[in-house]
Amino acid sequence: MTNSVAPLDLPEPLVVTLGNLKGGVGKTTSAFFLASYFASEHGLRVLVIDADPLSQTGYSWYRRLIKGEIEVPFELVAFPSRHVNDCIADKAADFDVIIVDAGGESAEIFKAAIPESNELVLLTSVSPSEVKRVPSTFRAAEEAVVGAGREVRVRVLLTKVPVIVKNGRNISTEYRTQREHLESAGYEVFESYLSAWKWYREAADGEVGEGAENPFEDLAEYRRVGDELVSSYRALVEVPA
Ligand SMILES: Nc1ncnc2c1ncn2[C@@H]1O[C@H](COP(=O)(O)OP(=O)(O)O)[C@@H](O)[C@H]1O
Ligand SMILES: [Mg+2]
Repeated sequence: MTNSVAPLDLPEPLVVTLGNLKGGVGKTTSAFFLASYFASEHGLRVLVIDADPLSQTGYSWYRRLIKGEIEVPFELVAFPSRHVNDCIADKAADFDVIIVDAGGESAEIFKAAIPESNELVLLTSVSPSEVKRVPSTFRAAEEAVVGAGREVRVRVLLTKVPVIVKNGRNISTEYRTQREHLESAGYEVFESYLSAWKWYREAADGEVGEGAENPFEDLAEYRRVGDELVSSYRALVEVPA
């Protein structure tokens, strides 16, 4: 693991879109945890763009934190518009990482964010009916990237994975089954995944003092997801033997 100590060599800025043309998959939760990861683990200037036209969950969560005088290590703007690409371009000079919460149902906004992104993290639960919707989101991303003049790396991140622990091991098969299924269809899937945990659920749904601030207390599995997300941006340095 000699590379794990190498410094990060990120695009300026790194733009990560969290997307799925379906709501309720954990996009907003992931936006907050990953924003906290980049800010607290790497000391970077992070912006979250809440681009979900249907439910401004991110915006209201952020507002509750600010009102509760919680020190939030990132900024958030609401920009649920098909001009979200302009918003990304305008903010690019002021932030090291921009995370776009490109909400469900609006293919237009999602597709506007893609050409400005380096990474698309396509979130889905392991429920077969949700996994079946991965290809349509992937195709929308492919259409959006045509003529963009840049590559967008697309990876599927499995969330709300059921956990059945036996002898200290997760013996539930959902993650493995769906990952194999997705990989055999040609998708790249994160090795790390997010368990179905109360800790995450309490974040977006809670008030300050009862959980809404939890990404700043414990990144939980998002630390591994973040590390995996940035691993390809580590400069290769020779470590003397
Ligand atoms: N890993 C998880 N385990 C359990 N509940 C989760 C997890 N991730 C998100 N949730 C919950 O699922 C619901 C939808 O999550 P949210 O992040 O708002 O999704 P989206 O932004 O895609 O609509 C929320 O109630 C949230 O607290
Ligand atoms: Mg949301």
